[in-house]
Amino acid sequence: MTDNPIVSIRHVSKYFGKFAALEDVSLDIHAGEIFALLGPSGCGKSTLLRILSGFETPSEGELLLDNKDLVPLKPNKRPINMVFQSYAVFPHMTVEDNVAYGLKMEGVSKSEITSRVNEALEQVHLTGLGQRKPNQLSGGQRQRVALARVLVKKPRLLLLDEPLSALDAKLRDAMRLELVKLQESVGITFVIVTHDQSEAMAIADRIAVLNDGKLRQLATPAELYQRPVDAFVADFVGKIHCFDVASASIENELIQVTSSTLPPLSLPPSVMSSALHSLPVASSGGVQQTQQSIGRQPRSQTDAIGRLDSASGKLVLAIRPEHISASLSEPASADVSLLGSIGDIAFQGQHSILEIVIDGKPSLTAIVENAAAQALHNAGFGSPVWAYWTASDMLLLPENASNGSN
Ligand SMILES: Nc1ncnc2c1ncn2[C@@H]1O[C@H](COP(=O)(O)OP(=O)(O)O)[C@@H](O)[C@H]1O
Ligand SMILES: [Mg+2]
Repeated sequence: MTDNPIVSIRHVSKYFGKFAALEDVSLDIHAGEIFALLGPSGCGKSTLLRILSGFETPSEGELLLDNKDLVPLKPNKRPINMVFQSYAVFPHMTVEDNVAYGLKMEGVSKSEITSRVNEALEQVHLTGLGQRKPNQLSGGQRQRVALARVLVKKPRLLLLDEPLSALDAKLRDAMRLELVKLQESVGITFVIVTHDQSEAMAIADRIAVLNDGKLRQLATPAELYQRPVDAFVADFVGKIHCFDVASASIENELIQVTSSTLPPLSLPPSVMSSALHSLPVASSGGVQQTQQSIGRQPRSQTDAIGRLDSASGKLVLAIRPEHISASLSEPASADVSLLGSIGDIAFQGQHSILEIVIDGKPSLTAIVENAAAQALHNAGFGSPVWAYWTASDMLLLPENASNGSN
């Protein structure tokens, strides 16, 4: 994978009437990467893919492929192919004829068709099955025929819209791996659309998270998980517990945070989302400004306050389950410890997943080693249990980094 952009999407918006399906989306796709567009249903993923393929035109913005304007090119003039959710193959044609179809339409010579079809069948591991009809193939094999049909055209860009969503769970896992291997061997840039975060995390080199037509974050799977910009992204890419923040400010290089559920905390700046460029500095009397008062500060007062104000209305402190520990006795030295009771414990092989019910609050999920889980099991449902964690494992996030800033 290299860093040169093969595709540049610049300030692209798409309106259907007054409805904005995409709003000011800018991103680069690098040559040779698997790029995922991830987001809930209706967030604009397919619209962006259709704009790339040429079946939709952007209402605003620029679209470049290899630094050339793509917008005026008709779909069939773009070196871009699309694989749809339902892998369409012609049922009455042999595998070979299916794969050869697009090249025949282009008037490619017979000998070239033969060699390119053979090459494509080899790439998808269907060598020797060229004379079969689709109904003589398994579901997974039929999908590989559909892939071979587009690979044979040697596109610059291959677009895949929810390519695995029609498969059952086991086949889906196997095909994920195959897609990654296939992409590595052919070297074509893949743009894959999915609403399934685990699929995007497993397959993609980089992921663009979209919501409500807006780009929320573009990052590697690990960055999205460890450094989400806001609570929406944090929650979309994996389980996370969020606590409402009452006030946050910086004092002596540490972030001082208060909330209704947790004790007052001093956190290292590393917990802060990149969307929060800065926090206000606490006043010299040690009195911290509340979120409400920050919101009412005139913008001119300090740049830091202005940026926090525009970045978010509301902040949360968040912690992922793998950072939460559980103990039957009160932990001697933990930054945060909350007393609750044991809910469900689910055995998961190497570890167990424990629900800790905290009075009147949504329960916390902790991932505990099986040795520790046994004691919790023995104590039984409803027994008192302490959930505890290290403050620096938390994240300080705006609820929605794109509110107000776009
Ligand atoms: N041709 C269209 N006319 C009107 N609205 C559309 C059209 N295509 C998509 N939309 C709307 O735009 C939004 C984004 O759609 P889409 O890109 O298909 O979402 P996704 O693929 O992320 O599920 C949806 O609210 C959808 O209803
Ligand atoms: Mg879609």
